[in-house]
Amino acid sequence: MSNQLPREPSALSLDLKTSKKIEINHRRNKEKDHTELLDECAKTFNYEECKEQYWNPEQYSMLFGTPLWNEASESQRVLLNQLYWVAYYSQIISAEIATIFYNQTSAAGLYGLNDFRGVCDMLDLESAQERAHINAFFTISEQVEEALFGQRMFSFNMRNAYAQTMIYPDTNLLKDQWRALQLRSFALLSSGSAFIASQYFTVRGIRTLNGKMVQQRLSQYYQKHPDQESCSVPSKVSYYHYMDESFHFNSSCIIGHDVVRSLPNPTAYERLVGNLSIAGCQRDHSNFSTVVNGLFWYEPALFEPVYKILRSSHFGMDDKEAMDMMKRCFCEENQAVHDSFGTMTTAIESYKKFLDPLDYVNGPNKNLSIMRRMNVEKYLLNNRKAMSKFKAPAGYTPS
Ligand SMILES: [Fe+2]
Ligand SMILES: [Fe+2]
Repeated sequence: MSNQLPREPSALSLDLKTSKKIEINHRRNKEKDHTELLDECAKTFNYEECKEQYWNPEQYSMLFGTPLWNEASESQRVLLNQLYWVAYYSQIISAEIATIFYNQTSAAGLYGLNDFRGVCDMLDLESAQERAHINAFFTISEQVEEALFGQRMFSFNMRNAYAQTMIYPDTNLLKDQWRALQLRSFALLSSGSAFIASQYFTVRGIRTLNGKMVQQRLSQYYQKHPDQESCSVPSKVSYYHYMDESFHFNSSCIIGHDVVRSLPNPTAYERLVGNLSIAGCQRDHSNFSTVVNGLFWYEPALFEPVYKILRSSHFGMDDKEAMDMMKRCFCEENQAVHDSFGTMTTAIESYKKFLDPLDYVNGPNKNLSIMRRMNVEKYLLNNRKAMSKFKAPAGYTPS
């Protein structure tokens, strides 16, 4: 690097189109910021006031399209609709805890180059917004689960960014520890390399694409509601959240696709790390779930909460009835299995499009070959194997 002044203009400052995009995205997000509205929702939420209502479009209900859904009463269907919200946004809390952390480590990596203040300021705003998002999801989920079950089902105590991002993954203690080590290494590497930092936004972009598929539909429930005033607070939260997230998706695209062109060419090692993190993201998204269509959870990890819900007073099943119902939902082909697999297929195609223009991405990642290994037969086989070993949680007494 030359010591001469004035210094050479940076590649980013010369890329006027990208600089403008960053400035506009940050300014508009600041102007429209939904933090206050979301904080208000968290403060005013009262489950009693909206416990009779649907919070999402009907097909965004827990176990929609399974025998359980088909045979559920109207009030049980309302409950499954609300539980979808709780479970879905509990996963989003986990993803956003990670986002806050990696926004910061990646901003540190990018700030090591001249003229990156605008990018970093944009990320600071997004991190602050994520904290408001998490607070709204957290407050509502805890209140709902307390009222319905007197215990947690999908929500969890706050935790740090090194936990598995998927809250119901296919895992064991060793895999958890390996993942924590990978996440720690990535944090260190991204804070010291502008390229690795920028490619974090490729992974974030993929994850947001996945979120967008569902959250756009959830947000429309409020947006298109004929009487918005009477809509539940959780429906409003879905809408306000999606409004903020649309700016976050833009910034992932700008940094992952445009800013990356202004960075020094990646070394072979940086390319390797970039591809490893995309492969990690593929692995996270390599299962599908009928409990929450749209999340790539490992279904056997959900047997326990589903069992507890079926045994609760809301469904009133005994042990045998609950087990039989779970076998019908998870071990036999039904509409929900095909719907959730369809969502996964749509996700694969949209990720492919997103990764296509990036030179450093290798063939298996561009083709999403890890995700493509999953299919309906494999899903049923995994569930049957796990179901044959599944027992009621020790010491469990129905609420
Ligand atoms: Fe968010
Ligand atoms: Fe976000």
